[in-house]
Amino acid sequence: MPTKPKASAVTKKVTTRSLVQMKQRGEKIAALTAYDFLTAQLVDESGIDVVLVGDSAGMVIQGHETTVRVTLEQMLYHTEVVSRGVERALVVADMPFMSFQVNADEALRNAGRMIKEAGAEAVKLEGGAAIAKTIEKIVGVGIPVMGHLGLTPQSIHRFGTYQVRATEPEEADEVRRDAKALEAAGVFAIVIEKVPAALAAEVSKSVSVPVIGIGAGAGCDGQILVTHDMLGLYTRFHPRFVRRYAELGKAMQDAFEHYVRDVKATEFPSKAESY
Ligand code: KIV
Repeated sequence: MPTKPKASAVTKKVTTRSLVQMKQRGEKIAALTAYDFLTAQLVDESGIDVVLVGDSAGMVIQGHETTVRVTLEQMLYHTEVVSRGVERALVVADMPFMSFQVNADEALRNAGRMIKEAGAEAVKLEGGAAIAKTIEKIVGVGIPVMGHLGLTPQSIHRFGTYQVRATEPEEADEVRRDAKALEAAGVFAIVIEKVPAALAAEVSKSVSVPVIGIGAGAGCDGQILVTHDMLGLYTRFHPRFVRRYAELGKAMQDAFEHYVRDVKATEFPSKAESY
């Protein structure tokens, strides 16, 4: 019996253009993060549209409390191994903290490295109107940029908390203005994180590019989750927007403990597992 073709082999390569077309025809965009080759392959074969090499790597891979310690070199490494595992989805690489804030020339050089050296197809920058000129410069040389508004984890030391953003009218207005500024600067999509669902739905309707929500309700054009959160691997926090689709952390712990018991009890390896 012929084996079922992989999702990635039966559907066309996702591009920034196809994401905009998905918004136009009302098809929701599904996005997840990946940081390594194997996970990237599995995520891609699920039929995911976007694989984000997130700087959330700083927390779920490196064990830091925040994302701010992640370096450009680390993101280049993660992006390179992820790119090798992805055939169909669009690979977007996060620009880490201080890789794009100093000036537009440095941002352009670093974004270029993500594309040329690591194989990313687009980059993501946290921020709104304040970085619009930088985004224009990057987009101007042909590098697609994804924006990121609402809770922007690289600014955690300014916010002081990971609580929901834009609950006050002034900050909600800022998010509305920032979305427009990003659209005008040429982004192909915007991530909107942890803001009230009504605001995210309004912003999604107000711009022509897809708005991909995380903790931003069902009115966005798509959804993204951190893979390690939705698999139950990263359990330090459990925000209510994370639906756990598996409990892999528990499954791994059980397997490790079973192995230790077997070794101690000389039940592993068996004769059949020996030469
Ligand atoms: O770093 C990341 O994983 C992200 C997502 C939360 C959108 O930016």
